[in-house]
Amino acid sequence: MDRLLKASVIENRQLINNHYLLTLQPLKKIRKPGPGRFFMLTVDDGLDPLLKRPFSIHRWTGGNFQILYRVAGKGTHLLSKKKQGDTIEAIGPLGNGFNVGKTQNNIILVAGGIGIAPVFALAETISKRKPLLFYGTRTKKEALCIDNLKSLGIKPVMSTDDGTLGTKGNIINVMKKHLTRSTLSTDCVIYACGPGPMLRSLSEFTKKHGLKAYAALEQNMACGLGTCLGCVVNTVNGYKRVCKEGPVFPIDEIIW
Ligand SMILES: Cc1cc2nc3c(=O)[nH]c(=O)nc-3n(C[C@H](O)[C@H](O)[C@H](O)COP(=O)(O)OP(=O)(O)OC[C@H]3O[C@@H](n4cnc5c(N)ncnc54)[C@H](O)[C@@H]3O)c2cc1C
Ligand code: FES
Repeated sequence: MDRLLKASVIENRQLINNHYLLTLQPLKKIRKPGPGRFFMLTVDDGLDPLLKRPFSIHRWTGGNFQILYRVAGKGTHLLSKKKQGDTIEAIGPLGNGFNVGKTQNNIILVAGGIGIAPVFALAETISKRKPLLFYGTRTKKEALCIDNLKSLGIKPVMSTDDGTLGTKGNIINVMKKHLTRSTLSTDCVIYACGPGPMLRSLSEFTKKHGLKAYAALEQNMACGLGTCLGCVVNTVNGYKRVCKEGPVFPIDEIIW
């Protein structure tokens, strides 16, 4: 399989309590993957867990790629123990990724929690088009990439659940207020990644205003290659595999 590769751990840095930035050097040459695409990574050399875990490409730095991840369970806990010089098996890049039209301006990005990982990758790719970014986290400490966003010239509109940064509350409500006040127009396109309830709420908003939006879904995955059907979502066009037809879908296609 030509997408199977080994990668050496350059760094696995803890950013805050349960969030890490993993830098990997592929041991064979691969082309820079587009934002929204992902890799399946082996989290341990043993048999438990047996299955690889999916992670979005976060950054590409001189032939190395970075994964920004949150420890959610056993697999990600084991991944957080990887040290410089360890080798990780990866399959990828996989999936369709975000597809932004070359002439598209008026771009809105929405990230919830660790959804900033692929949204940052997209922001970095299209930063010259000055996207407007809405970013919600549970608390100030979990607001990642702020300095890197600033160096791209992007100052996110923030919300936190506890009010420690930006507006207190959920980011979709903040976005609704912000957009009705200023830039809401039907030629804008929204790209989002975050928890299911955030995406569902975004979908209701975009439907109501006739806006075009795309969401990167983070479904549990087993094979990542389109064969096990473990990641299917129900859409208006029937069941679709998040790993193969996605992970990015038009938001109005998903039956939430
Ligand atoms: C295309 C894609 C890209 C992703 N990119 C990233 C990324 O860049 N950074 C990152 O931190 N995470 C990302 N995820 C989510 C990540 O794959 C899961 O958090 C991880 O697989 C959990 O493995 P685990 O063994 O630690 O947890 P498990 O023990 O498998 O699960 C622990 C808990 O997390 C829940 N969970 C498991 N998988 C997911 C999931 N995919 N989404 C939401 N909840 C889940 C389980 O239901 C359970 O409650 C992505 C997922 C997909 C499908
Ligand atoms: S994870 Fe197996 S089909 Fe998508």
